[in-house]
Amino acid sequence: MTGAPVKAQAEPKLGPTKVQNQPNMQFAARLAQRASQVERLLADLLSPALQHGEVARPDRLLAAMRHGTLNGGKRLRPFLLLETAAMLNAPSAGALRAAAALECVHCYSLIHDDLPAMDDDDLRRGQPTVHKIFGEASAILAGDSLLTFAFDLLADPQTHEDAGVRADLVLALARASGIGGIAGGQMLDLAAEKQDLTAAQISLLQAMKTGALIRCACEMGAVIAGVDGKKRQALLEFGQHAGKAFQLADDILDVTQSSETLGKQAAKDKKRGKATLVSLLGIEQSREEAARLLSGAVAALKPFGEKAVWLRQAARFIVERKY
Ligand code: IPE
Ligand code: IPE
Ligand code: MG
Ligand code: MG
Ligand code: MG
Repeated sequence: MTGAPVKAQAEPKLGPTKVQNQPNMQFAARLAQRASQVERLLADLLSPALQHGEVARPDRLLAAMRHGTLNGGKRLRPFLLLETAAMLNAPSAGALRAAAALECVHCYSLIHDDLPAMDDDDLRRGQPTVHKIFGEASAILAGDSLLTFAFDLLADPQTHEDAGVRADLVLALARASGIGGIAGGQMLDLAAEKQDLTAAQISLLQAMKTGALIRCACEMGAVIAGVDGKKRQALLEFGQHAGKAFQLADDILDVTQSSETLGKQAAKDKKRGKATLVSLLGIEQSREEAARLLSGAVAALKPFGEKAVWLRQAARFIVERKY
């Protein structure tokens, strides 16, 4: 593969791996460190410099992609991938590229989710949404380009020397993004605005539109570390519980927090008449369900013992977060 090499990333200084007296603050610091690693790489990858024989990077498209990607965000999916990979002793440079690819898919999904034809939102991560600044056509194309760029990143030999590993990363991300994942889940989610759904139907669409990518973060961490069998299964189970908990928490936050805290329009689900577990079960039962999902996630990490400290804390953060 030819083209400008990606700038080497300075090895991050990461905090201790043992939980000490202030686990929440340590988690916040670790999440911030991981986020800045991923952001530095994304900023490089989405610079005007042409890569891999590209003949042009249209300014407006690149600016829209950058706005939708380099605009904050918790970077939780990259965190899960990087911590899974680190726990399993995978090489960090490849894991970081895989994490950037995963975040590109997430950011694409947000850009399209906010479009007038979908949730019609003006605010994302505390800033105007991509279509508000660049127009709908550019927002659609920015989403398309981020989605495809993710697979470019994964298929590139810089991500892993073994073509089989690269193919497995591509496969996992493709399946989490497509008809059985984000796109399929978003389709079912649109129907939730027009009809009442059962808890099982809501749970299924949430596992697809949001859960699949979070589960995929853990799977990609295992793939890049070359870990298969029972350990990979355990990580998939962790990711499945954490993924469901993530959307449940998002729906709880939608009714309990302000737009200012969330950086996106609050009380949106009710406004659109969207069936969620919160609208069906109420806040208290939803919180109980989130706690059950957290227990399931933590139980799945048992085979990894103390080494899974950051994944455990991430699961807790997912259900206890305020934004
Ligand atoms: C929001 O995801 C969209 C959902 C899948 C619920 P995040 O809450 O992870 O959004 P950012 O990336 O931190 O902005
Ligand atoms: C979004 O769900 C899921 C995606 C696949 C992007 P929401 O529509 O609830 O996410 P927010 O609340 O806009 O972030
Ligand atoms: Mg939506
Ligand atoms: Mg939305
Ligand atoms: Mg939401």
